[in-house]
Amino acid sequence: MTADALVIDNIGSLITNDPALGRGSLGIVENACVVIADDVVVAVGPAGAVADRRIDAGGACVLPGFVDSHTHLVFAGDRSEEFTARMDGRPYDGGGIQVTTDATRATSTARLDALVRERLAEAHRAGTTTIEIKSGYGLTVDDEVRSVDIARAHTSEATFLGAHLLPREYAGRADDYIALVCNDMLCRVAGTAKWVDAFCETGAFDADQCRAVLDAGRAAGLGLRLHGNQLGHGPGVQLAVECGCASVDHCTYLTDADIDALAGGETVATFLPATDFSTRQPYPDARRVLDAGATVALASNCNPGSSYTTSISFCIALAVREMHMTIDEAIAAVTTGGAAALRREDVGRLSPGSAGHAVILDAPSHHHLAYRPGVPLIRQTIGPLSSRALPLCGHGMGDDGVGRQRVDGHDRPAEGPQ
Ligand code: NIG
Repeated sequence: MTADALVIDNIGSLITNDPALGRGSLGIVENACVVIADDVVVAVGPAGAVADRRIDAGGACVLPGFVDSHTHLVFAGDRSEEFTARMDGRPYDGGGIQVTTDATRATSTARLDALVRERLAEAHRAGTTTIEIKSGYGLTVDDEVRSVDIARAHTSEATFLGAHLLPREYAGRADDYIALVCNDMLCRVAGTAKWVDAFCETGAFDADQCRAVLDAGRAAGLGLRLHGNQLGHGPGVQLAVECGCASVDHCTYLTDADIDALAGGETVATFLPATDFSTRQPYPDARRVLDAGATVALASNCNPGSSYTTSISFCIALAVREMHMTIDEAIAAVTTGGAAALRREDVGRLSPGSAGHAVILDAPSHHHLAYRPGVPLIRQTIGPLSSRALPLCGHGMGDDGVGRQRVDGHDRPAEGPQ
């Protein structure tokens, strides 16, 4: 056994997501252990393996760490009043993105980074070990670069979402703004972001504008993702499949043609049920999408406007209760599904060679994640989210790694607590 190996032992029910290792599509092994060395699973077997370090699961269920493939963690400010007004009947239209943009622009880099760290810690406690983080509340060249830099400091899955909303200073000049996104902004984030994304929706950007962003992103070497079909029927899903996006996210309003496109393409349908919950939208027809054979992911969409939660357990419960996904389908959607949405094969599984990221539940089976909604069942999360700070580049952080404070539109080193 490797010298510094860790064994999670005495597992009542282990979800491996490898059908070759165990029962059903989740590859469930009973009375198991999993051995992890250097952050990688090196063995799965019957309980009782010996290693330097041992965690006794006490008969509980262990699953792969959750892969949250859609978040907007780089933001400042609070929109609880908007939420409260919505509960009084005011519809969600995405316009509040400008409110968060104003607050984010006005916040120092050090403070923004601290806020992201707090949200990441919360997500990790809730079982997430791999996370995608978008920009999209900067909407100027410098502010978008800064947001991407902060995202990249914490995850390899950093997404440039300059085409999130038309900022007020570009009112009536959407094509000029799209040109800025496709040129100056993209050029500055191309070495930092892994993905480019756009919000294809009435009130945000149309199909031609989003196609321009995706084409420019592809030319700059970025992977593609798209927000689509959140607030009504529209061209988002078809555009995403046509452009070969890794994922199209929301998919709340789908036509038969959209479902056929998802079933026939390589694009993952990512559902964000906490958003439909928080915006009082209908839930997507996940059953039809799954039955058509498309790959499905579930993600938190953590953001201050439409879905202020990091809880993947909550998303699982909603998907099962409201979207008629089976519990096994929901578990797959937050592990292998999230991994597929990020075009990753190394995470979302607990089989030899995969990342050693695991969640120990305070429950004997994964069914409890839907059966006991709202109960904090995550006993322990093992492995990254963000265990190491990645090198920072670009405008947002100084070369010395010191956060910059924004004063009169210029950055200077942060002084004292922010
Ligand atoms: O995915 N749809 C666009 N972006 C976010 C909402 C952002 C906000 O309201 O601040 C979403 O729901």
